[in-house]
Amino acid sequence: MSESKTTKFVTAGRDKKWTKGVVNPPVQRASTVVFNTVAEKQHATINRANKTLFYGRRGTTTHFAFQDAMTEIEGGAGCALYPCGTAAISNSILSFVETGDHILMVDTCYEPTRDFCDKILKKMGIETTYYDPVIGAGIRELIRPNTKILFLESPGSITMEVQDVPTMTRVAHEHDVIVMLDNTWSAGVGFSPFDFGVDISIQAATKYIIGHSDVMLGTAVANEKCWDQLREQSYLMGQCVSPDDAYLGLRGIRTLELRLKQHAANSLTVANWLQSRPEVDHVRHPALETCPGSEYFHRDFSCGNGLFSFVLKTTCPQATTALLDGMKHFSMGYSWGGFESLILANEPKSFHSLRTVANPNFEGTLIRLHIGLEDTDDLIADLAAGLERYNSVLQEKLHV
Ligand SMILES: Cc1ncc(COP(=O)(O)O)c(C=O)c1O
Repeated sequence: MSESKTTKFVTAGRDKKWTKGVVNPPVQRASTVVFNTVAEKQHATINRANKTLFYGRRGTTTHFAFQDAMTEIEGGAGCALYPCGTAAISNSILSFVETGDHILMVDTCYEPTRDFCDKILKKMGIETTYYDPVIGAGIRELIRPNTKILFLESPGSITMEVQDVPTMTRVAHEHDVIVMLDNTWSAGVGFSPFDFGVDISIQAATKYIIGHSDVMLGTAVANEKCWDQLREQSYLMGQCVSPDDAYLGLRGIRTLELRLKQHAANSLTVANWLQSRPEVDHVRHPALETCPGSEYFHRDFSCGNGLFSFVLKTTCPQATTALLDGMKHFSMGYSWGGFESLILANEPKSFHSLRTVANPNFEGTLIRLHIGLEDTDDLIADLAAGLERYNSVLQEKLHV
């Protein structure tokens, strides 16, 4: 009988080969691996791509344990490790394209993913077409004979549109196009990409897998079809991570599902409260129907997380600054996925450089929240006080 995913978060990657009889694998630091006989050296060389100690860049037992765990949880054939999520994205793409190729990139991708396409792929003669995140089966019209990759990120960065992943993977596979998904938001907990036809699932493990805002790490889990090519090409591009970081990734997995469920419950409480506030135009939380594509969230996801956005009715930079500057529990930071709450504001005009085909159709300031593991009463009180400061500045401006 196959075990449940919840149990896998505890058991995955804990083969005695790696743990040597204790609960967690030791941190095995190595550049040089030494062999005492020609036969041992030959064995390592032949099996170097298959979790056998060969040379530090190919990984040590700590890496092998983390890679096994990620593969068991996400469900592919193997997991490549990268020094950050951005490296996981760029190297996964580079592993499957050459000059003259074309890729399809979701318009709501993480900003450095867009920059990678526009500044690096373009220089290499690889063309990118951006598409609307909610295009669904319409993606067919954008596929060309030279299209190699369909890249998804669901929900999308900042504006949170949820994509119809199974429909899009079906169309892509009819045309032999490889599907990659930035799966950082689900962290592999609430969404199982390989059940929906994804070929490579990429994560900024920096976020929920690490979960404590103290390590940069990236992962890409590939299916049987893509694994050999992803592994070897990433290796040739020098991608590797320290065993200490791999260890922390593995440790994060043990509490990942539990943390995500709490983040999800907390974020829904805060999102529902925000819906009742008169200053708020709408809330872009994948579980709420005011978020584009929320029907796909309810169909395909079993759990959410702490990250969502809401849009104010107005735009007033001074009022937004008053809101942000006085927060007690929400800090401003360009990340998410740790145990702590975070807040960032985006003025609508900032989307002009972030989007080319799916400019969001709202006029107010967008605020992105990461809801941490604090008591939601404290978080709501903090946001309520922030909105009061926001209102005071708006009122002052009205009376000037
Ligand atoms: C959705 C998404 N993907 C990828 C990344 C990149 O991860 P890293 O910062 O580890 O390079 C981020 C970082 O914020 C992200 O939000």
